[in-house]
Amino acid sequence: EKGGYPHFMLKEIYEQPKSISDCFRGRLNASTGHLLLGGLREYANKMVNADRIVIIACGTSWHAGLVAEYIFEEFCRIPVEVEYASEFRYRNPVIKEGDVVIAISQSGETADTLAAIELAKSKGAVIFGVCNVVGSSIARATHEGAYTHAGPEIGVASTKAFTAQITVLSMMALMIAQRRGTISERRYHEMLVELETIPAKVEKALALNAQIEQISEIFKDATNFLYLGRGYNFPVALEGALKLKEISYIHAEGYPAAEMKHGPIALIDENMPVVFIATKDSSYEKVVSNIQEVRARKGRVIAIVTEGDTLIPSMAEFTIEVPATDEALMPLVSVVPLQLLSYHIAVMRGCNVDQPRNLAKSVTVE
Ligand code: F6R
Repeated sequence: EKGGYPHFMLKEIYEQPKSISDCFRGRLNASTGHLLLGGLREYANKMVNADRIVIIACGTSWHAGLVAEYIFEEFCRIPVEVEYASEFRYRNPVIKEGDVVIAISQSGETADTLAAIELAKSKGAVIFGVCNVVGSSIARATHEGAYTHAGPEIGVASTKAFTAQITVLSMMALMIAQRRGTISERRYHEMLVELETIPAKVEKALALNAQIEQISEIFKDATNFLYLGRGYNFPVALEGALKLKEISYIHAEGYPAAEMKHGPIALIDENMPVVFIATKDSSYEKVVSNIQEVRARKGRVIAIVTEGDTLIPSMAEFTIEVPATDEALMPLVSVVPLQLLSYHIAVMRGCNVDQPRNLAKSVTVE
């Protein structure tokens, strides 16, 4: 059942080229310019005319929501709020006509997300669901939706569901952007073509496994980790830290790289591993400066960089090279080495990777 892999988590990490392609199936065809999500019918018009998008989710799905915030704002020019379902539901939130709500959940059973949906519904909102489990409570509670089609995710730590969620949300954003006229035809087509290349790029990131295993051996006894990224890679930093915490029980924090100087920099010494997600994008130079600041304090830098980068390898102790892609799609690729890093560290520490202590796959109580 684990397909020859020692754990479900590793199997699911390796399934990502396929789960992302499955997510495209029947929806995306770059050569013909076809992009259509069957579940986006009436809702598409609402979204095209939306004044605001409110995304509600928990945990890793909330991180996918953060990536979506950057994508929707960039391509659709619609303001987006990303809310923890547990906060949203107890805050008497302001929902107005012209707001659209997107709920994201792998299991479709998360109690807080479900309650947040019911609350938003009672205030008149129309809710769009992005779920993995077909027929789940959240899939049924939402008005329309798009399944991620990632297949069953058994490992408690979410991996392939995360990349499938971002894939669906990217397709949604591009569809809406085209209808709103906030994306040029040229850029739209470039993005569709680029989306189709993602499974092959994820495959290349998976080929880094042996290198990541070696790095894991070096850091497996660390007691803390810092993950830093900026722009599209900021949610990836949060997700990398969450994966490590969940399965290896090492304390880890994800932070926007530029916020480092407002606090976390105080933690940096020769014992602090700092994972930078520092791919070539619009914030590259600024992240390079942050790497220098960490090096100056003897922090141990592990950097995820774009293939062919020569600058960061001259500064970081370890560099992991991933293929280049559009910065808006980079989270789909840059998260993969972080999934593998947390997996190997957890295995080396003798942890129960698929069923970490204190965690459940579906959090059906608040
Ligand atoms: C992280 C993880 C959790 C879930 C969260 C939401 O690896 O598994 O943080 O992401 O409990 O679950 P869903 O997406 O099922 O609503």
